[in-house]
Amino acid sequence: MRTVRDVPTLRDLVAQARRAARPVAFVPTMGALHEGHLSLVRLARREGGLTVVSIFVNPLQFAPGEDLARYPRREKEDAALLEREGVDVLYMPTEASLYPPDFSTIVDVAGVTEGGEGAVRPGHFRGVATVVLKLFLRVLPDAAVFGRKDLQQVAVVRRMIRDLDLPIRLVVGEVVRETDGLAMSSRNAYLSPEERRRAPDLARTLLAARARAIHGARDARRLEEDALRQLEAARFQIDYLEAVDSLTMRRSPEARPGVCLAAAVRLGGTRLIDNVYLLDPAKA
Ligand code: PAF
Repeated sequence: MRTVRDVPTLRDLVAQARRAARPVAFVPTMGALHEGHLSLVRLARREGGLTVVSIFVNPLQFAPGEDLARYPRREKEDAALLEREGVDVLYMPTEASLYPPDFSTIVDVAGVTEGGEGAVRPGHFRGVATVVLKLFLRVLPDAAVFGRKDLQQVAVVRRMIRDLDLPIRLVVGEVVRETDGLAMSSRNAYLSPEERRRAPDLARTLLAARARAIHGARDARRLEEDALRQLEAARFQIDYLEAVDSLTMRRSPEARPGVCLAAAVRLGGTRLIDNVYLLDPAKA
């Protein structure tokens, strides 16, 4: 595996792959890698060409007062994991190269960013879309792999690819869960042992709503209300819990294929997000 920090070397490696007719598959990450990320890497490897993974903790997507300073950084361990997964290129851009002092261009994907995370974290998706577009333009991938745990991020990237005619195929990986159901996240490292024991109640609540939908409960408002009550009983602070269409991120009154129940809660100082399809999209 080559670890690359500069754009010319990156471009050179990508150009070599193109000359050899190898597709380029890209997984952008902020590091502190876990099985969820590695499942995305495996999807990228399945594309059968050059696999590029980036690690960059993007300051632009953190609001003042969020966890930028304490976001876990584990470059050495991450590099070892990626090497073991057979990644070809680990790209670790510097902040100075991505954001020179007079940097002033921002990518704003409207509509899909209005509710959910976008409402609670204003500016977050501008930071995400800007860095993702910059990384896309540096890596020039044929396919880009994102995890559905960040449901709204996937919708934002999908919309940006479509609206800007980016010649990139979006590949979406499933949510990867711990054995007790907790969705894997780099931020789970913040949980105290007591919070870690309580955290799976979020996934249990969402999965219970999905089970009811599968058994015929189609009133999404009802499912939301019941799930909210359960989250309150589990003593989470709730940022939002909404049944949304996974493509448009609009609230859906009906549990139908493609509608997800998405939630963000706080447990002590840790923010957890998770989502489930109420009914599988393939069963439409
Ligand atoms: O999902 C993430 O880790 C980040 O939002 C991403 C896509 C790497 C952009 O910084």
